[in-house]
Amino acid sequence: MSSPVVLEKHGSIGVILVQNPPVNALSQAVRQGLADRLAEAIADDDIKGVVLAGDGRTFIAGADIREFGKPMQAPDLNSVIRAYEESPKPVVAAIHGTALGGGLETAFAAHYRVAVAKSFVGLPEVKLGLLPGAGGTQRLPRVAGVKTALDMITSGDMVPAPKAREAGIVDEIVDDLIPGAVAFAEKLVAEGAPLKVISAGRGKLDEADPAIFDEYRAQVAKKARGVLAPQNCIAAVEAAVKASSFEDGLKRERELFAELMESPQRAAQIHIFFGEREVAKIPDLPKGTEAKKIGKVAIIGCGTMGGGIAMNFANVGIPVTIVENEQAALDRGFGIIRKNYENSAKRGRFPMDEVEKRMGRLTPTTSYDDIADADIVIEAVFEEMGLKKEIFAKLDQVMKPGAVLATNTSTLDIDEIASATKRPEDVIGTHFFSPANVMRLLENVRGEKSSPETIQTVMDMGKKIGKVAVLAGNCHGFIGNRMLHPYRRQAEFLVEEGAQPEDIDRVIYDFGFAMGPFAMGDLAGLDVGYRVRQHQLKTWPQGKRYSSLGDKIVEMGRHGQKTGAGWFLYEEGDRTPKPDPVIKELIEKHAAEAGLKRRAVSDEEILERCIYALVNEGAKILEEGIAIRPVDIDITYVYGYAFPKHRGGPMHYADHVGLDKVLARIRHFHEISGEDEWKPAKLIEDLVAQGKGFKDFTR
Ligand code: 3HC
Ligand code: NAI
Repeated sequence: MSSPVVLEKHGSIGVILVQNPPVNALSQAVRQGLADRLAEAIADDDIKGVVLAGDGRTFIAGADIREFGKPMQAPDLNSVIRAYEESPKPVVAAIHGTALGGGLETAFAAHYRVAVAKSFVGLPEVKLGLLPGAGGTQRLPRVAGVKTALDMITSGDMVPAPKAREAGIVDEIVDDLIPGAVAFAEKLVAEGAPLKVISAGRGKLDEADPAIFDEYRAQVAKKARGVLAPQNCIAAVEAAVKASSFEDGLKRERELFAELMESPQRAAQIHIFFGEREVAKIPDLPKGTEAKKIGKVAIIGCGTMGGGIAMNFANVGIPVTIVENEQAALDRGFGIIRKNYENSAKRGRFPMDEVEKRMGRLTPTTSYDDIADADIVIEAVFEEMGLKKEIFAKLDQVMKPGAVLATNTSTLDIDEIASATKRPEDVIGTHFFSPANVMRLLENVRGEKSSPETIQTVMDMGKKIGKVAVLAGNCHGFIGNRMLHPYRRQAEFLVEEGAQPEDIDRVIYDFGFAMGPFAMGDLAGLDVGYRVRQHQLKTWPQGKRYSSLGDKIVEMGRHGQKTGAGWFLYEEGDRTPKPDPVIKELIEKHAAEAGLKRRAVSDEEILERCIYALVNEGAKILEEGIAIRPVDIDITYVYGYAFPKHRGGPMHYADHVGLDKVLARIRHFHEISGEDEWKPAKLIEDLVAQGKGFKDFTR
């Protein structure tokens, strides 16, 4: 079998090229090829120096993630790296695309590194629940210093080549990759330059203040609560400084790496890595379906969502025209967008002059005539079916043929909205999450008649604006909000039965969510849900449990943070939720009136009832085909609802607990509550009967 690594001769320089598309991951065959080609280059007397490069679109983007969790097959990466370091002939790594993880670690084995200006380097292992396990935590602080190493390794973020050069990671920027690297190697040979082996000395290790490790530990504990990987990353860099030799430091890195490899967090984060890519694949779209070009965007409504959505496009250079009924609403909306941009610039996210550039891509108007030539229009007006249908009828009249007509509705029937037009094939839901310029999820919702091109267009659009796009089917609340409903109901029932709102929020926060359901309600505003519930109550099914506790709170004028009080109390200028004795009293009174005998509710029950409510509804959503795969639900929850990434989303989490155990608890909750909502999803029963989990789900 041919090797994915080849050796070419460019005069007296041997060029070792990795050819393992798409990203030149370090599979077993690549590791073997790297070792073999180096041995050949060393044995060849005509070769005086070596260049190591990647063929295709990138240098090496890291270990082959698909091999994780399987037995390691020799040679391991550390021994390949050692062989390159020990090469008697100078080795130059030539970087283009991305040198990531094991890829950058391999580049550190070279005696010198050159890179094209547009390339990036990074150690992103932390994002997969890991740490750089092939010497990255030992070599990076030696070349770039402890602080830069801690920043790069604990964030996993990529660094552009020019910055990497300043940090000492790259020795020279070249214009033309292979010719530039070959010329660099020829020069080394001609000058008899020293073979710089990073691991041979302490480099910049001793420049750091020893207190830095505790500072980073505290920072990371706050930023990545309950996440193991960044803590182990810090411990590994600390070992580089404190170990008596490079070998000892490397040994500690291996131990810390092995610990992470065994952790369920690693499995969860890798599930999310592949999930992000999986959700882009829509199995029933005809092969070769082309997305429409999006060069101009229109948005209807410049409120909370319309403004945020517009920013996504302006950020990537796409012009947007925003329609409102009145100039005053436009002025208000544009003022908020400008403020947002200015704040980002002040925080150093981009230079100040970017504010004007981005604002310059946004055009306000009160006339629909100004949007007729947009490639896509996204409606983001109030959540009212009548209004939305009126707007879609107007869009049908004014928009050019083939334009995508999208709605940002968070719950409403896409087909009913589409029925207001004569072109339902062009209509689709594009559900953004608040704040729309920040949250990574885009939940696209296909209507019955949405065409493949329309679907492909909004899926591609997600990628273009840096979102993770999931495709959902049309039902009340789609994937995300439909699941949220039973989750919130359980939280309120638990309060009626004996828990306090702060107990629920603490358990959910400790599980890893950014906040619990009650703090979330207070943040979003309780009046919104109240209005929806008052509407729903008119047709509430007889016998279905309803908690009016939340309504009573709104009726007290407590609408959440914006009124200084909701489920919790907020002091002036402080967003920290504080438990309120008034609410405690209200709960007691409410329970007594409802004839509920309050009891002690355990943390375990809180967690199970909230999370398994999500899982059971998620399974029903899968059964109905509203979600394509379990991972679509996991991605929706991680990127739209801040479900802790290191737990892999609700469906992955259920598999981790054991779907049979989850089913037993769901059955128990069904039995004691008699609630329809707890009726176990047939899909869960079927999977458990076959000894399977969501990971085995197929259609
Ligand atoms: N291993 C296996 N497959 C990988 C991979 C890897 N390291 N990196 C990417 N792929 C796959 C993707 O799953 C995708 O497969 P698909 O086409 O079947 O869906 C394909 O390669 C293309 O990837 P992207 O769609 O992500 O391509 P982009 O061009 O958008 O991005 C990239 C390229 C920036 C390299 C991005 O893929 C990426 O960030 N990859 C992961 C890099 C990484 O985490 N490296 C560290 C690995 S861990 C490690 O090295 C441990 C070591 O310290 C011992
Ligand atoms: P908002 O009240 O902040 O903004 C709505 C805007 O639409 C207002 O500026 C209003 O002036 C404008 N508007 C009303 N009628 C109009 C018309 N005929 N023509 C042009 N503009 C008109 O509301 P928000 O929060 O931005 O919600 C908009 C949509 O997004 C709703 O469908 C909502 O369900 C959905 N959504 C809201 C989320 C949120 O967290 N706020 C999250 C996801 C979706």
